[in-house]
Amino acid sequence: MKVHGHARGRGRLGATRPPAETWRGAECQLIHFPPSISIPENTTYEDTLPKMLRYATRDGVHCVAFHVAKGGVGKTSLAGNTAYLASRARRVVLIDADPQGSATSWLAPAPCNSELADVLKGEAELNDALVPLASNLELLPSSGLTGGLKQFAETVLVRRPAVFDRLRRALTEHGTDLVIYDLSPGMSLLERSVLMSVDEVVLPALAEYFSVDGINTAALLLAEINADWDRDVRADKLVVNALNRSFRRHVQAHADYRRLDRFDLFTVAQDAKVAESQFMHQPLPVYEAGSKVIPELQRLADALGGS
Ligand SMILES: Nc1ncnc2c1ncn2[C@@H]1O[C@H](COP(=O)(O)OP(=O)(O)OP(=O)(O)O)[C@@H](O)[C@H]1O
Ligand SMILES: [Mg+2]
Repeated sequence: MKVHGHARGRGRLGATRPPAETWRGAECQLIHFPPSISIPENTTYEDTLPKMLRYATRDGVHCVAFHVAKGGVGKTSLAGNTAYLASRARRVVLIDADPQGSATSWLAPAPCNSELADVLKGEAELNDALVPLASNLELLPSSGLTGGLKQFAETVLVRRPAVFDRLRRALTEHGTDLVIYDLSPGMSLLERSVLMSVDEVVLPALAEYFSVDGINTAALLLAEINADWDRDVRADKLVVNALNRSFRRHVQAHADYRRLDRFDLFTVAQDAKVAESQFMHQPLPVYEAGSKVIPELQRLADALGGS
Protein backbone atom coordinates (compact mmCIF):
# COMPACT_ATOMS: atom_id res chain seq x y z
CA MET A 1 0.00 0.00 0.00
CA LYS A 2 1.36 3.40 -0.89
CA VAL A 3 1.56 6.14 1.69
CA HIS A 4 -0.57 8.36 -0.53
CA GLY A 5 -3.35 5.78 -0.70
CA HIS A 6 -5.38 6.89 2.32
CA ALA A 7 -8.93 8.01 1.90
CA ARG A 8 -8.95 10.82 4.46
CA GLY A 9 -6.91 13.95 5.24
CA ARG A 10 -3.85 14.96 3.20
CA GLY A 11 -0.61 15.42 5.15
CA ARG A 12 1.81 18.18 4.32
CA LEU A 13 4.37 15.71 2.97
CA GLY A 14 1.85 14.96 0.27
CA ALA A 15 0.90 11.78 2.13
CA THR A 16 -2.71 11.33 3.06
CA ARG A 17 -3.60 10.22 6.54
CA PRO A 18 -6.60 9.79 8.81
CA PRO A 19 -7.47 12.24 11.61
CA ALA A 20 -5.11 12.54 14.58
CA GLU A 21 -7.12 10.23 16.86
CA THR A 22 -6.46 7.31 14.50
CA TRP A 23 -2.88 8.29 13.72
CA ARG A 24 -1.50 5.18 15.41
CA GLY A 25 -3.49 3.14 12.95
CA ALA A 26 -2.13 5.29 10.16
CA GLU A 27 1.38 4.53 11.32
CA CYS A 28 0.73 0.87 10.64
CA GLN A 29 -0.19 1.81 7.12
CA LEU A 30 2.65 4.25 6.55
CA ILE A 31 5.13 1.41 6.78
CA HIS A 32 4.44 -1.33 4.24
CA PHE A 33 4.46 -4.98 5.20
CA PRO A 34 5.81 -7.73 2.98
CA PRO A 35 3.09 -9.97 1.60
CA SER A 36 4.70 -12.99 3.26
CA ILE A 37 3.74 -11.68 6.71
CA SER A 38 0.05 -12.00 7.33
CA ILE A 39 -1.43 -9.32 9.55
CA PRO A 40 -4.63 -10.23 11.39
CA GLU A 41 -7.19 -7.45 11.50
CA ASN A 42 -6.85 -4.88 14.30
CA THR A 43 -3.29 -5.87 15.23
CA THR A 44 -0.90 -3.07 16.03
CA TYR A 45 2.48 -2.57 14.48
CA GLU A 46 4.08 -3.69 17.72
CA ASP A 47 2.07 -6.94 17.73
CA THR A 48 3.00 -7.67 14.16
CA LEU A 49 6.72 -7.06 14.04
CA PRO A 50 8.00 -7.18 17.62
CA LYS A 51 11.38 -8.40 16.38
CA MET A 52 11.94 -5.23 14.45
CA LEU A 53 11.47 -3.14 17.57
CA ARG A 54 13.51 -5.37 19.86
CA TYR A 55 17.06 -4.53 20.70
CA ALA A 56 19.48 -7.42 21.03
CA THR A 57 23.21 -7.28 21.41
CA ARG A 58 24.63 -10.57 20.20
CA ASP A 59 28.22 -9.89 21.17
CA GLY A 60 30.43 -7.09 22.43
CA VAL A 61 30.17 -4.95 19.32
CA HIS A 62 27.25 -2.78 18.23
CA CYS A 63 26.77 -2.57 14.46
CA VAL A 64 24.83 0.22 12.78
CA ALA A 65 24.07 0.85 9.11
CA PHE A 66 23.09 4.22 7.69
CA HIS A 67 20.72 3.20 4.95
CA VAL A 68 17.63 4.27 3.13
CA ALA A 69 16.47 3.53 -0.39
CA LYS A 70 17.03 7.11 -1.50
CA GLY A 71 20.18 8.69 -2.89
CA GLY A 72 21.80 11.94 -1.82
CA VAL A 73 20.05 12.33 1.55
CA GLY A 74 23.26 12.47 3.61
CA LYS A 75 23.98 8.83 4.47
CA THR A 76 27.73 9.17 3.96
CA SER A 77 28.00 12.59 5.62
CA LEU A 78 26.02 11.42 8.66
CA ALA A 79 27.83 8.07 8.93
CA GLY A 80 31.30 9.65 8.72
CA ASN A 81 30.67 12.53 11.09
CA THR A 82 28.77 10.37 13.59
CA ALA A 83 31.58 7.80 13.53
CA TYR A 84 34.11 10.54 14.29
CA LEU A 85 32.07 11.94 17.20
CA ALA A 86 31.34 8.47 18.61
CA SER A 87 35.05 7.67 18.55
CA ARG A 88 35.67 10.24 21.29
CA ALA A 89 34.12 7.73 23.72
CA ARG A 90 34.41 4.32 21.99
CA ARG A 91 36.56 2.34 19.58
CA VAL A 92 34.84 2.81 16.24
CA VAL A 93 35.32 1.27 12.81
CA LEU A 94 33.64 3.00 9.87
CA ILE A 95 33.08 0.59 6.97
CA ASP A 96 32.69 1.91 3.45
CA ALA A 97 30.33 -0.68 1.99
CA ASP A 98 29.19 1.56 -0.86
CA PRO A 99 30.86 0.56 -4.17
CA GLN A 100 31.02 4.31 -4.96
CA GLY A 101 33.62 4.59 -2.18
CA SER A 102 32.44 8.07 -1.13
CA ALA A 103 33.40 7.75 2.54
CA THR A 104 36.87 6.58 1.48
CA SER A 105 37.46 9.36 -1.04
CA TRP A 106 36.32 11.88 1.59
CA LEU A 107 38.29 10.61 4.61
CA ALA A 108 41.18 8.55 3.18
CA PRO A 109 41.80 9.74 -0.38
CA ALA A 110 45.31 8.26 -0.68
CA PRO A 111 45.37 4.84 -2.41
CA CYS A 112 44.86 2.01 0.08
CA ASN A 113 46.89 -1.23 0.13
CA SER A 114 43.81 -3.34 0.60
CA GLU A 115 40.11 -2.75 0.95
CA LEU A 116 36.87 -4.19 2.30
CA ALA A 117 36.45 -6.60 -0.64
CA ASP A 118 39.94 -8.04 -0.04
CA VAL A 119 39.08 -8.74 3.60
CA LEU A 120 35.75 -10.32 2.63
CA LYS A 121 37.52 -12.53 0.07
CA GLY A 122 40.09 -13.59 2.67
CA GLU A 123 42.91 -12.01 0.63
CA ALA A 124 43.81 -9.42 3.29
CA GLU A 125 43.83 -9.36 7.08
CA LEU A 126 41.42 -6.95 8.73
CA ASN A 127 44.27 -5.30 10.64
CA ASP A 128 46.21 -4.66 7.42
CA ALA A 129 43.25 -3.11 5.64
CA LEU A 130 42.12 -0.74 8.40
CA VAL A 131 43.15 2.90 7.88
CA PRO A 132 43.60 4.95 11.08
CA LEU A 133 41.66 8.23 10.93
CA ALA A 134 41.77 9.37 14.58
CA SER A 135 42.92 7.90 17.88
CA ASN A 136 39.86 5.64 18.27
CA LEU A 137 38.60 5.64 14.69
CA GLU A 138 39.57 3.38 11.79
CA LEU A 139 38.17 3.10 8.27
CA LEU A 140 37.73 -0.14 6.35
CA PRO A 141 37.88 1.45 2.90
CA SER A 142 36.49 0.72 -0.56
CA SER A 143 38.29 2.10 -3.58
CA GLY A 144 35.33 3.35 -5.53
CA LEU A 145 34.20 1.96 -8.85
CA THR A 146 37.73 0.85 -9.77
CA GLY A 147 37.84 -1.22 -6.58
CA GLY A 148 36.73 -4.78 -5.93
CA LEU A 149 33.52 -4.39 -3.91
CA LYS A 150 31.14 -4.21 -6.86
CA GLN A 151 32.68 -7.27 -8.48
CA PHE A 152 32.70 -9.15 -5.16
CA ALA A 153 29.03 -8.29 -4.63
CA GLU A 154 28.09 -9.54 -8.10
CA THR A 155 30.06 -12.79 -7.99
CA VAL A 156 31.28 -14.25 -4.68
CA LEU A 157 28.62 -12.77 -2.38
CA VAL A 158 25.81 -14.84 -3.83
CA ARG A 159 27.54 -17.98 -2.50
CA ARG A 160 28.47 -16.39 0.85
CA PRO A 161 25.66 -14.07 1.96
CA ALA A 162 26.66 -14.43 5.63
CA VAL A 163 30.16 -13.07 5.02
CA PHE A 164 29.39 -9.90 7.00
CA ASP A 165 28.61 -12.03 10.06
CA ARG A 166 32.18 -13.33 9.79
CA LEU A 167 33.48 -9.79 9.46
CA ARG A 168 31.51 -8.89 12.57
CA ARG A 169 33.29 -11.64 14.52
CA ALA A 170 36.66 -10.34 13.30
CA LEU A 171 35.71 -6.80 14.37
CA THR A 172 34.72 -8.10 17.81
CA GLU A 173 38.11 -9.79 18.15
CA HIS A 174 39.71 -6.51 17.06
CA GLY A 175 38.17 -4.91 20.18
CA THR A 176 35.72 -2.69 18.32
CA ASP A 177 32.87 -1.17 20.33
CA LEU A 178 30.90 0.37 17.48
CA VAL A 179 30.80 -0.40 13.75
CA ILE A 180 29.19 2.09 11.38
CA TYR A 181 28.42 1.02 7.81
CA ASP A 182 27.94 3.49 5.00
CA LEU A 183 25.78 1.93 2.29
CA SER A 184 24.57 2.90 -1.14
CA PRO A 185 20.83 3.51 -1.55
CA GLY A 186 20.55 0.19 -3.41
CA MET A 187 18.63 -2.88 -2.30
CA SER A 188 20.86 -5.52 -3.87
CA LEU A 189 22.38 -8.55 -2.20
CA LEU A 190 25.23 -6.36 -0.93
CA GLU A 191 22.93 -4.08 1.08
CA ARG A 192 20.82 -7.05 2.25
CA SER A 193 23.91 -8.95 3.43
CA VAL A 194 25.15 -5.97 5.42
CA LEU A 195 21.72 -5.21 6.86
CA MET A 196 21.20 -8.74 8.14
CA SER A 197 24.50 -8.52 10.05
CA VAL A 198 23.78 -5.29 11.96
CA ASP A 199 21.86 -4.48 15.13
CA GLU A 200 20.19 -1.33 13.89
CA VAL A 201 19.62 0.83 10.87
CA VAL A 202 19.57 4.62 11.05
CA LEU A 203 17.25 6.09 8.43
CA PRO A 204 18.40 9.43 6.97
CA ALA A 205 15.80 11.53 5.18
CA LEU A 206 15.41 14.96 3.68
CA ALA A 207 12.45 17.18 4.49
CA GLU A 208 10.76 16.29 1.23
CA TYR A 209 8.18 13.87 -0.02
CA PHE A 210 10.33 11.33 -1.88
CA SER A 211 12.22 10.56 1.32
CA VAL A 212 9.01 9.03 2.69
CA ASP A 213 9.08 6.47 -0.12
CA GLY A 214 12.71 5.72 0.72
CA ILE A 215 11.81 5.11 4.38
CA ASN A 216 8.92 2.86 3.43
CA THR A 217 11.13 0.82 1.11
CA ALA A 218 13.84 0.46 3.75
CA ALA A 219 11.26 -0.65 6.33
CA LEU A 220 9.90 -3.23 3.91
CA LEU A 221 13.38 -4.54 3.19
CA LEU A 222 14.16 -4.82 6.90
CA ALA A 223 10.92 -6.62 7.63
CA GLU A 224 11.81 -9.14 4.91
CA ILE A 225 15.32 -9.61 6.26
CA ASN A 226 14.08 -10.06 9.84
CA ALA A 227 11.52 -12.63 8.74
CA ASP A 228 13.64 -14.50 6.20
CA TRP A 229 16.86 -14.61 8.21
CA ASP A 230 15.40 -14.68 11.72
CA ARG A 231 17.13 -11.42 12.65
CA ASP A 232 16.32 -8.63 15.09
CA VAL A 233 17.47 -5.59 13.18
CA ARG A 234 15.68 -2.52 14.51
CA ALA A 235 15.10 0.80 12.76
CA ASP A 236 13.80 3.37 15.19
CA LYS A 237 16.09 6.35 14.54
CA LEU A 238 15.13 8.77 11.79
CA VAL A 239 17.42 11.68 10.91
CA VAL A 240 15.89 14.63 9.08
CA ASN A 241 19.01 15.97 7.40
CA ALA A 242 19.83 19.33 5.82
CA LEU A 243 16.78 21.00 7.33
CA ASN A 244 16.42 24.67 6.45
CA ARG A 245 13.82 26.25 8.69
CA SER A 246 13.53 29.28 6.43
CA PHE A 247 11.82 27.00 3.86
CA ARG A 248 8.15 26.61 4.74
CA ARG A 249 7.95 23.19 3.11
CA HIS A 250 10.88 21.97 5.26
CA VAL A 251 9.15 23.17 8.44
CA GLN A 252 5.93 21.49 7.38
CA ALA A 253 7.63 18.26 6.40
CA HIS A 254 9.56 18.23 9.68
CA ALA A 255 6.31 18.62 11.61
CA ASP A 256 4.93 15.62 9.74
CA TYR A 257 7.99 13.52 10.57
CA ARG A 258 7.54 14.44 14.24
CA ARG A 259 4.15 12.78 14.19
CA LEU A 260 5.72 9.40 13.40
CA ASP A 261 6.00 8.46 17.04
CA ARG A 262 7.62 5.08 16.38
CA PHE A 263 10.86 6.92 15.59
CA ASP A 264 13.36 8.78 17.73
CA LEU A 265 13.74 11.87 15.59
CA PHE A 266 17.08 13.60 15.03
CA THR A 267 17.29 16.85 13.11
CA VAL A 268 20.48 18.02 11.40
CA ALA A 269 20.32 21.49 9.92
CA GLN A 270 21.53 22.49 6.48
CA ASP A 271 25.12 23.71 6.77
CA ALA A 272 27.44 24.44 3.84
CA LYS A 273 30.37 23.44 6.09
CA VAL A 274 29.32 19.81 5.65
CA ALA A 275 30.16 19.86 1.94
CA GLU A 276 33.21 22.08 2.48
CA SER A 277 34.70 19.60 4.97
CA GLN A 278 34.45 16.88 2.33
CA PHE A 279 36.49 18.95 -0.16
CA MET A 280 39.07 19.29 2.62
CA HIS A 281 39.02 15.52 3.36
CA GLN A 282 38.18 16.11 7.00
CA PRO A 283 35.35 15.12 9.32
CA LEU A 284 33.14 18.12 10.02
CA PRO A 285 34.16 18.42 13.70
CA VAL A 286 37.81 18.72 12.61
CA TYR A 287 37.12 21.17 9.78
CA GLU A 288 34.65 23.37 11.69
CA ALA A 289 34.41 22.52 15.38
CA GLY A 290 31.84 25.27 15.89
CA SER A 291 29.39 24.08 13.24
CA LYS A 292 25.82 24.42 14.42
CA VAL A 293 25.03 20.82 13.43
CA ILE A 294 27.60 19.17 15.70
CA PRO A 295 25.49 19.06 18.91
CA GLU A 296 22.74 17.12 17.12
CA LEU A 297 25.27 14.81 15.43
CA GLN A 298 26.76 14.22 18.91
CA ARG A 299 23.29 13.37 20.26
CA LEU A 300 22.94 10.80 17.48
CA ALA A 301 26.43 9.40 18.12
CA ASP A 302 25.64 9.05 21.84
CA ALA A 303 22.35 7.29 21.07
CA LEU A 304 23.91 4.57 18.92
CA GLY A 305 23.92 1.39 20.93
CA GLY A 306 21.44 2.66 23.51
CA SER A 307 18.19 0.83 24.11
N1 LIG B 1 23.39 18.80 6.81
C1 LIG B 1 23.83 19.10 5.57
N2 LIG B 1 23.84 20.39 5.15
C2 LIG B 1 24.25 20.71 3.92
N3 LIG B 1 24.70 19.82 3.00
C3 LIG B 1 24.70 18.51 3.37
C4 LIG B 1 24.27 18.09 4.66
N4 LIG B 1 24.41 16.73 4.72
C5 LIG B 1 24.89 16.35 3.53
N5 LIG B 1 25.08 17.40 2.71
C6 LIG B 1 25.59 17.39 1.33
O1 LIG B 1 24.63 16.70 0.53
C7 LIG B 1 25.29 15.97 -0.48
C8 LIG B 1 24.86 14.50 -0.38
O2 LIG B 1 25.33 13.98 0.83
P1 LIG B 1 25.86 12.48 0.93
O3 LIG B 1 26.83 12.18 -0.17
O4 LIG B 1 26.31 12.29 2.34
O5 LIG B 1 24.50 11.69 0.65
P2 LIG B 1 24.32 10.12 0.43
O6 LIG B 1 22.95 9.79 0.91
O7 LIG B 1 25.44 9.38 1.06
O8 LIG B 1 24.40 9.98 -1.15
P3 LIG B 1 24.48 8.61 -1.99
O9 LIG B 1 23.08 8.08 -2.04
O10 LIG B 1 25.00 9.04 -3.33
O11 LIG B 1 25.41 7.69 -1.27
C9 LIG B 1 26.79 16.16 -0.27
O12 LIG B 1 27.24 17.17 -1.14
C10 LIG B 1 26.89 16.63 1.18
O13 LIG B 1 28.01 17.47 1.39
MG1 LIG C 1 26.75 7.99 0.18
